[in-house]
Amino acid sequence: MCGIVGYIGKREAYPIIIKGLKRLEYRGYDSAGIALLNGDLKIMKKKGKVSDLEGTISGENLHSTIGIGHTRWATHGEPNDVNAHPHASSDGKLAIIHNGIIENYQSLKTELEIKGHKFKSETDSEVVIHLIEEIKKNNNCSLEEAVRLSLQEVVGAYAICILSSDDDKQLIAARKGSPLVIGVGDGEFFIASDATPIIEYTNNVVYLDDYEIAVIKNGKLTLKSVEDVPKTPFVHTLEMELESIEKGGFEHFMLKEIHEQPKSIRDCLRGRLLPKDNHLFLNGMSQYMNKFLNTDRLIFIACGTSWHAALVAEYLFEDIARVSVEVEYASEFRYRNPVIRETDVVIPISQSGETADTLAAIDLAKSKGATIFGVCNVVGSSIARASHAGAYIHAGPEIGVASTKAFTGQVTVLAMMALILGLKKGTLSESRYRELLFELDTIPEKIQKILEDAEPIKRIAETFQFAKNFLYLGRGYNFPVALEGALKLKEISYIHAEGYPAAEMKHGPIALIDEDMPVVFIATKDATYEKIISNIQEVKARKGKVIAIVTEGDKDIHNMAEYTVEIPKTDDCFIPLLSVIPLQLLSYYVAIYRGCNVDQPRNLAKSVTVE
Ligand code: F6R
Repeated sequence: MCGIVGYIGKREAYPIIIKGLKRLEYRGYDSAGIALLNGDLKIMKKKGKVSDLEGTISGENLHSTIGIGHTRWATHGEPNDVNAHPHASSDGKLAIIHNGIIENYQSLKTELEIKGHKFKSETDSEVVIHLIEEIKKNNNCSLEEAVRLSLQEVVGAYAICILSSDDDKQLIAARKGSPLVIGVGDGEFFIASDATPIIEYTNNVVYLDDYEIAVIKNGKLTLKSVEDVPKTPFVHTLEMELESIEKGGFEHFMLKEIHEQPKSIRDCLRGRLLPKDNHLFLNGMSQYMNKFLNTDRLIFIACGTSWHAALVAEYLFEDIARVSVEVEYASEFRYRNPVIRETDVVIPISQSGETADTLAAIDLAKSKGATIFGVCNVVGSSIARASHAGAYIHAGPEIGVASTKAFTGQVTVLAMMALILGLKKGTLSESRYRELLFELDTIPEKIQKILEDAEPIKRIAETFQFAKNFLYLGRGYNFPVALEGALKLKEISYIHAEGYPAAEMKHGPIALIDEDMPVVFIATKDATYEKIISNIQEVKARKGKVIAIVTEGDKDIHNMAEYTVEIPKTDDCFIPLLSVIPLQLLSYYVAIYRGCNVDQPRNLAKSVTVE
């Protein structure tokens, strides 16, 4: 949720930290702050965007080669200057930035208050730095040891970074449940919540594991566990390109990411799908094929948009591989005492790979002996590492808060998995398999075609920009797409929108329909086409305004609906990959017409690392 950045080395820390915070701003943007060391500890923080912070500190002496920075998504305490990070110890010598939630902060705070500590903010994070200060004083120990002992008392999730004015050659970081990456340069180190602030300086990174403490001192990195066991840092090489985290001429990351989908899907298919050779291969899946073949159910766990991709998977796997599927909200699954068997294959889906609820659901499933097969975008993320095996979607960094290319990447991987399993199980004939491989290969060009003609969607967005409600209806493979379309609109334009299976409408939502209600039908020519035409008629009879996403050349719905948007024809099982694209564009343009901040919608953050 929050973004944290740290630098220690030979360069000026301030520009590196500010740039890093801008790269991480998608994680939270209600306040920002930095701490620099140059003899004294200098803390500067401000409610608002990183640019607001920058505005208030111009002209100050910012010379320092060590510093930390934070961009906040408030959990404890409203967004204001005081609650912004970094937070300092009572003596002003220590500073901390924190991402996560300290669950026992109230009891720790009470104990510390009894010992005379005075707190300035309402945050849980400030408690940690006072605790470290107290333990350091009482044990007369090093900062490193005080951090280690303090973390044994802390319950909850954290990624922290600490500096002390007593030692300008030392930076300490630690994690449990919230991500932290350390970039290893030439005599310099970069710390961040994810790799995006790091890649322009170095490709060499160390991912911190839970309960690990990193001490960077005198140009050397050492790792140890909270239990004081030394660990060997394992340096990974990042394959991310700098261009992938910049807007590349688009006005917003979201629009860029929508337009990237032909490429991101091509990247997802690369080396895995070769239709001419009848080849479809997912390495992680082949290693765990026995588990897939010997289970009688798959359990998908995810949140938000990733949960919608899981719903598409339900249709795909049941249809193609004839295996029963359960789709679970990770947040419910983890607290529901679910029945999990050792033969179950549990498939978490996550763009960020850091969603706290999904991670907790994985832990639960793992503890019951299930096999975990992760479908993630962020390479090396916590969910990817917590899985026994998995498949990356290779969509590249997704920065826009509203997920777009991750959804189509997830559906692409899930479709590949279903095809592989269907063929292995014999529920999919060789000829149909071959046909589907060729069809899957055409999806990037078909998306490109939709993207090239966004004008009708823009016009619809302009017409309905003032609507108070929207209804999205779809059936079969398009039902999850209806949910996804509604979520996209809600997130970035703040218009209330509901997604429903079209046939469910008559069981309640039909009461909402009047001449002011835009109803988006995803009504492509598939197995449910005739049925959805009846649903369109039901809406028209009640004067609802019908916007229909249709297969190209569909004259019937064209004559019925007020507005139609055509998409190319494809096989039923790949339709979500196409039908979601106009809905992403519709939400984008409605938000633009309404003057909303598309990339940083209110109250949201990209990666939900808290419960
Ligand atoms: C919607 C959106 C969220 C995420 C959800 C899960 O546009 O971005 O609903 O899909 O928070 O996140 P991941 O996929 O990172 O686990």
